[in-house]
Amino acid sequence: MDFTDIYNSKKKSPEEIADQILSGFELVCPTAASQPTAIPAAIAERAKKGEIEHVRHNSIIALNPAPFVDPELAGKFEYVSWFTQAAARKGVQEGYCDYMPCHYSEEVAVWDAKGNPDVFYAVVSPMDRHGYFSFGIIASEAVELAERAKYVFLEVNKNMPRCHGSNIIHISQVDALCEYDAPLNEVPVPTVSETDLTIGRQIAEMIPDGATIQFGIGGVPSAVGMCLNDKKDLGIHTELFTESMIDLIEQGIVTNRRKPLNTGKTVAAFAWGSKRMYDFLDDNISISMEPVSYVNNPYVIGQIDNFISINACLEVDLLGQVCSESIGPKHFSGSGGQVDFVRGCNMSKGGKSFIAMNATAKKGTLSKIKPILTPGAVVTTGKNDVDYIVTEFGVAHLRGRTAGERAKALIEIAHPDFREELRAEARKMHLMI
Ligand code: COA
Repeated sequence: MDFTDIYNSKKKSPEEIADQILSGFELVCPTAASQPTAIPAAIAERAKKGEIEHVRHNSIIALNPAPFVDPELAGKFEYVSWFTQAAARKGVQEGYCDYMPCHYSEEVAVWDAKGNPDVFYAVVSPMDRHGYFSFGIIASEAVELAERAKYVFLEVNKNMPRCHGSNIIHISQVDALCEYDAPLNEVPVPTVSETDLTIGRQIAEMIPDGATIQFGIGGVPSAVGMCLNDKKDLGIHTELFTESMIDLIEQGIVTNRRKPLNTGKTVAAFAWGSKRMYDFLDDNISISMEPVSYVNNPYVIGQIDNFISINACLEVDLLGQVCSESIGPKHFSGSGGQVDFVRGCNMSKGGKSFIAMNATAKKGTLSKIKPILTPGAVVTTGKNDVDYIVTEFGVAHLRGRTAGERAKALIEIAHPDFREELRAEARKMHLMI
């Protein structure tokens, strides 16, 4: 069957698609490079003219150009951030964008709780001869949210790689599409400092051959990737596909042979990186892009022995409560999949979750290990879930340790300049028994 006629009958201009948006509509697109360019721009034009109001765009990560992140359009076309990075941070901090607390594994379930979106729209790679589009480097929430929305609009972009996995949509599921070849957003390879490498080496020592790994966002997870050169038969099962994973696969350190699930394949929910990464993922049958409700599901992670998760944070208190998403009351990021992987590792035989950070911030003037979290800081990973905390001064294993033991272990990996002060505070809190 030839799907070209159906394709052509659904092909519209971005403006014609934007004309279908009604006031009060909830729009959603998958994360990062899935964000359409031409359709939101056309919707913003309508909002500026006063034709629509109270339209909300939802996504995990918003990228520029993001016309819905514009204080001038507040109340007309506005943004709800589900993981505050890139284009949305200023808007959330200044209060003209809102944010949605959620674990990434539960994003679709949260939509089920709040009511389904009116519109799902996304960037896809060009249609194949069977009538299928690939969501490319993003699987995450795409398939499940497209099924739930009243309308599905696509922006077909020849720059979106065609990736393998459960990340496809058929022309019969689409209400309208437009073609727009915007360059795919790239992020610079994270800078890795000497301190990050010191942390990375300590974590690498605790990763056995045959382990399956997940890396989060930031310099420390990247540093760990650079310290795994002597490992064998690693597997990858990760929310975010990172730059350092390419080297591990190309060098044969990752084989995925010892994973009981998706054996032989690298599994990721989405990728966000450089052109080199996007070329690597294009038509690469060893990579399976899978929904985040599967990848980040703690019960799935728990079925994989020796699962190792490495994420970063902003501060930790003496009980091991981890804040990864705010600086005091100032919202900075999101929970993403941090807790999903921490909980999954706790269920995995031999699993370990590492949350790592430099011991200090602000040029050494501030300890990131604190007696209590900064007032207003939110807890991302709770004290009952946390496993290992790592700084350049060592590794504190908290799971199975009492409050007093945790305080001692954490003070030992704080910067030496702050240890005495932390001990004094811990005593006042009756934590040093
Ligand atoms: N108090 C004040 N400022 C702090 C701070 C603290 N406790 N900790 C960090 N900062 C500052 C840093 O100095 C830096 O400022 P600069 O940009 O002016 O240099 C900035 O905050 C970012 O800190 P940094 O440690 O460099 O961040 P990172 O890029 O390594 O990312 C997280 C760390 C925690 C923000 C990131 O991993 C994240 O967003 N995590 C979310 C949860 C998660 O892990 N999800 C799973 C994977 S997606």
